[in-house]
Amino acid sequence: MMRTRPLKVALLGCGVVGSEVARIMTTHADDLAARIGAPVELAGVAVRRPSKVREGIDPALITTDATALLKRGDIDVAIEVIGGIEPARTLITTAFENGISVVSANKALLAQDGAALHAAADAHGRDLYYEAAVAGAIPLVRPMRESLAGDKINRVMGIVNGTTNFILDKMDSTGAGYQEALDEATALGYAEADPTADVEGYDAAAKAAILAGIAFHTRVHLDDVYREGMTEVSAADFASAKRMGCTIKLLAILERAADGQSVTARVHPAMIPLSHPLASVREAYNAVFVEAEAAGRLMFYGPGAGGSPTASAVLGDLVAVCRNKLAEVTGPGESAYTRLPVSTMGEVVTRYHISLDVADKPGVLAQVATTFAEHGVSIDTVRQQGRPDGVGNEASLVVVTHRAPDAALSGTVEALRKLDTVRGVASIMRVEGE
Ligand code: NDP
Ligand code: HSE
Repeated sequence: MMRTRPLKVALLGCGVVGSEVARIMTTHADDLAARIGAPVELAGVAVRRPSKVREGIDPALITTDATALLKRGDIDVAIEVIGGIEPARTLITTAFENGISVVSANKALLAQDGAALHAAADAHGRDLYYEAAVAGAIPLVRPMRESLAGDKINRVMGIVNGTTNFILDKMDSTGAGYQEALDEATALGYAEADPTADVEGYDAAAKAAILAGIAFHTRVHLDDVYREGMTEVSAADFASAKRMGCTIKLLAILERAADGQSVTARVHPAMIPLSHPLASVREAYNAVFVEAEAAGRLMFYGPGAGGSPTASAVLGDLVAVCRNKLAEVTGPGESAYTRLPVSTMGEVVTRYHISLDVADKPGVLAQVATTFAEHGVSIDTVRQQGRPDGVGNEASLVVVTHRAPDAALSGTVEALRKLDTVRGVASIMRVEGE
């Protein structure tokens, strides 16, 4: 039975994502109404620049006063696609206070203030949905929050930033340098004018915090996520990775400790074997590998950014929230009952690829091996070769370790730097996915 009175939607932001949300709401209005059981009406669009021409949007709907739009008394759902912390945070809170459920794509805000926003939604009996905040179009938040709610997720490893995956893929496949690959990503519209959030790993860290909270039913704040960007990854690193049968990806890795008593969340570049499913994720695509106790290994793959793919996720949430509204229920809220602490990076256990420039003389290898042993880091393989730049009396030494705590590796590297025979530590990269 179709309800005739429409559900009214306030669109907060009408940029890359918002303009696509508005377009799909208009062009698919009949299908959306049939799926929800009531028509949905775009009742107002809040923006910063009211005079900008916005194709397909009735100019009468445009306002610069988002607060007044939320307070006018007839809005059922607000879609927040402004981004950033303020005014998005205040507007979402205002929506809840006015009995309005919220769909948001704002990973930065959710990673920083997710707990408070969930509490505000609960206090007012409203929904907060955010599928689009992690990995764009890929259904991931809802499968982890709902489909896997009966299972136990132990590990999540994923490529959750399209811009950096595009850059690393170009460096690997064409031999392009970092800057050249970044310029191409910018020209194709993947990277922002200021790409810092992407290349320094902040965007991926925000997504990692959100996913870790859902996966482990605990609170993980953005500050709990260890973060390293990918600006230091070099052509030499790719050459080394290739020799090991690996490639390099910027990974978000979330793990439950073996004793189940803590979790870790980190974002950094890492070598992964070419045989790993994540190695074949090309261009600006995202993919997330979830390991659950009963389900085993699951892989979620697809476009992680862009107006239309992200709008798909927003619209899916809109349908869910509207259905809840008609049924007078709310969907699942925050699940943080395990209260597991988040361990530091030093406690993470993984493998490492270390590239050293050393003096090419007797005893150096033994000295280096002893330093690893003294810090409890076991060596898997060692490869020595003359420096490719032909520097005399120097060699390049590549050490790959067995699994060891990150703190032990840091101690090893610190000690190596102090050796007279070690001229420099060219790169340190974690090796994952085995
Ligand atoms: P844009 O910068 O393209 O759009 C932002 C919109 O917000 C613009 O319409 C802008 O108005 C409006 N706006 C800014 N400040 C205000 C304000 N004070 N009051 C009202 N409106 C305001 O961002 P995106 O569409 O790219 O991103 C939106 C959200 O979606 C972000 O949280 C982002 O992280 C997330 N997201 C984006 C993805 C993408 O691929 N772009 C992918 C996944 C998530 P005006 O048009 O007048 O400038
Ligand atoms: N800048 C982000 C990316 C957008 O490149 O993945 C999607 O969150």
